[in-house]
Amino acid sequence: MGVHLELPRPLDDRRARRHLRPVLPLRFHIRDIVIEPNLVLAPMEGVTDLSFRRLVRSIGGVGLTVTEFIASEALRRGVARAEMMARFDPDEHPVAIQIYGRSAEAMAEAAVAIEEAGADIVDLNFGCPSKKVCAHSGGSSLLREPDLARQIVRAVRKAISIPLTVKMRSGFDADLRNAPDIAQMCEEEGVESLAIHWRTRADMYGGLRAVDKIAETKARVRIPVLGNGDVVDAESALAMFRDTGVDGVMIGRGAIKNPWVFRQIRARMTGEPEVVVDAAEKQAVLLRYFESIRGEFRDDRGVLGRMKKIANYFTHGLPYGTDLRVAFLHSQSIDEAIGQTNRYFDWLAEEEERRGRPFSLVSHLPVELPPGSDQSAAWAAERKAAEPIGPSPFSPAG
Ligand SMILES: Cc1cc2nc3c(=O)[nH]c(=O)nc-3n(C[C@H](O)[C@H](O)[C@H](O)COP(=O)(O)O)c2cc1C
Repeated sequence: MGVHLELPRPLDDRRARRHLRPVLPLRFHIRDIVIEPNLVLAPMEGVTDLSFRRLVRSIGGVGLTVTEFIASEALRRGVARAEMMARFDPDEHPVAIQIYGRSAEAMAEAAVAIEEAGADIVDLNFGCPSKKVCAHSGGSSLLREPDLARQIVRAVRKAISIPLTVKMRSGFDADLRNAPDIAQMCEEEGVESLAIHWRTRADMYGGLRAVDKIAETKARVRIPVLGNGDVVDAESALAMFRDTGVDGVMIGRGAIKNPWVFRQIRARMTGEPEVVVDAAEKQAVLLRYFESIRGEFRDDRGVLGRMKKIANYFTHGLPYGTDLRVAFLHSQSIDEAIGQTNRYFDWLAEEEERRGRPFSLVSHLPVELPPGSDQSAAWAAERKAAEPIGPSPFSPAG
């Protein structure tokens, strides 16, 4: 007797979306705070300051923003820089302020200051791999010290009444991938949501994608869990939801490269039209960001440093993006850097007009590359083979 086996047909995009829609969550709650869409900007030191968060909010598609981490000792003592890092706009809600430290008392006092300032959420950093933070001040070293981690959570929970969340890595190293245990402890102590980066502390920013501990945590606790690590576009976001069952995703480096990523993912999740961004819009957003940091930092060097950092990510994957980065590095003044930005994006707009469509900002972050690595050389070679392009706007002929 012949058995007729019908192989499942691969789903085309539209069918896949229809199939996913009923099961994909589009929002979640942290107590009574609605996080909608369920796409969260990751905390990033030196990046997610007020200006960057403003930029992301102005583009839209983000359900929650988180500050860069702030030393609890500094915040409790009212150090000006720490207070500046903890600022948020009156309309930036919901917003979480992230703190780190090893002293339960300092963490609790800093958390009280955050609550008094009117923030929505206090977030504890159990994930930072940096030697400085890890050795002396907490971060992912707390994954090796569950008793201390519990003391900290308990003290902070007791001190504040607003929601408390924790961000961590999947473990300390390959032998201690204990995020689910720490997560359970957090839930017992009253933490109301967790974000988990799939890497261990030992992975730093390398390692092979392994989201099993995120999935295990999601299955173990009842509070919402966010998946984090290498989500850079709709595909990688959907893969995170599919592989782990998380309630939301948190995006870091992908949002510096492409601050439209939240809107693009949301569009895919809700079946809305694709979000396409042309050179003029990229230029406008970058210039708006430069203006904003100019108003924030007192000295020009600080402004220029921040501009270079963001432009560095932002131009990855764009044609001749490396040339703009080099031009930026050599810029001696803010106005010169702005001039280079305009020169580049005016050229890009002309190229786009010639080819009839915008260049995409969507690109992958190969897991073996540390943040800030240059992928554009490989990309440029690939592009050159596919389509002819004029000389760089920064070449003598350009
Ligand atoms: C420049 C930079 C700064 C970061 N600073 C913080 C931080 O202050 N607090 C934190 O919890 N994680 C920090 N992280 C980790 C990110 O929040 C995130 O977990 C990590 O980058 C993985 O997500 P991604 O692949 O989407 O970037 C930082 C990452 C980068 C690249």
